[in-house]
Amino acid sequence: MLAAWASDPEVTRYLAWAPHEHVESLEEFFRACEAAWRSGTGHHAWLLFRRGEEAPIGSIGLDRDGGKVSYGYALARPAWGRGLATEALRHLVEWALAQDGIERAWAFCDADNEASARVLEKAGLEYEGRLRRWHVCPTIGPGLRDALVHAKVR
Ligand SMILES: CC(C)(COP(=O)(O)OP(=O)(O)OC[C@H]1O[C@@H](n2cnc3c(N)ncnc32)[C@H](O)[C@@H]1OP(=O)(O)O)[C@@H](O)C(=O)NCCC(=O)NCCS
Repeated sequence: MLAAWASDPEVTRYLAWAPHEHVESLEEFFRACEAAWRSGTGHHAWLLFRRGEEAPIGSIGLDRDGGKVSYGYALARPAWGRGLATEALRHLVEWALAQDGIERAWAFCDADNEASARVLEKAGLEYEGRLRRWHVCPTIGPGLRDALVHAKVR
């Protein structure tokens, strides 16, 4: 994960975290993920694999807040442009909205992250609006940036 995408500033450009430099900080992330799966709260993440391959190509995760579920995802650069993020997200959106009590599947992306906005649309989420000065992308800088919200509801 470190070598394939988590240390790549091209990957983290529009993400809420800066590139990881050491495996230790990733271990912290994995510990937090494990705690989320155990407790049922927090960020539930999956590593993504091509069928039959042993090295992960990316990750996707979701957070539940009552009847709402939000998503985040990142792939290693060689995996971009093959519909893989869309495939993973579409599956998790359909799955979440089929669960009792979940009525809204949503995500935001940086307003300049056209590939991610396209993924959200292709996965069946509708554009809802622009959140001005909403989030920070540490790879770019400390300032607040605009984000686009997409959602699917039932
Ligand atoms: C965003 C990301 C997950 C997309 O993954 P992917 O598997 O390449 O996505 P898909 O192949 O399913 O679809 C990408 C779509 O965006 C389009 N696209 C890609 N780069 C684009 C760009 N610079 N401008 C406009 N559209 C772009 C592609 O053409 C494709 O649309 P199409 O099928 O209509 O042609 C991947 O680029 C990534 O990991 N980026 C870094 C992490 C990140 O930004 N995550 C999202 C945080 S909200």
